[in-house]
Amino acid sequence: MQTIGIVIGGKGRGSNMEALIRAFGDCVRVVVAPHENLPAVDRARALCAHVEIVQATEPERLVEVLSHVDWVCLAGYLRLLPLEVLTSHPGRVLNIHPALLPKFGGKGMYGHHVHDAVLAAGEEESGCSVHFVTEHYDEGAVILQKRCAVLSDDTSESLAERVLALENVAYVEALRSLIDHG
Ligand code: GRF
Repeated sequence: MQTIGIVIGGKGRGSNMEALIRAFGDCVRVVVAPHENLPAVDRARALCAHVEIVQATEPERLVEVLSHVDWVCLAGYLRLLPLEVLTSHPGRVLNIHPALLPKFGGKGMYGHHVHDAVLAAGEEESGCSVHFVTEHYDEGAVILQKRCAVLSDDTSESLAERVLALENVAYVEALRSLIDHG
């Protein structure tokens, strides 16, 4: 059985985390969160997932907690991962980004900043990208993308909502195909 660790960030809403837990069940061995007081932590516990609180100042603990899983899925984690996690899980650390990479990625491109930029650029379509994580922001090879139209009356919020629905499906699909074929 292939095991999974999910790392969430300080915004900690947790919709991608929830999609992964619902799809992979007991294979999700740990959800790592930066602190207790996050909606995603409640959500993880309600789904009976094991939660570990690891602060940004404790990179060696993050490495240790993730050393017990085969796959690492970042979901709303906005920092660069300690290099040890990448070297101990070669080709097995994934992230999801709310745009069609390589466009609209990189440092500072998260949350509404991404959708604002897509709208400002007058793009006709957007979507999400599941990609491998490297030591640079949003630069690893893309595994799977899903696309949606950008509508003429879209706001950052309405576009974010449409993209998030795609994300929740794409992350599960991408990880499942990697586990099945890798
Ligand atoms: C998603 O938009 C994802 O693309 C980005 O962070 C957000 C996390 O959302 N990396 P959620 O917490 O999974 O709902």
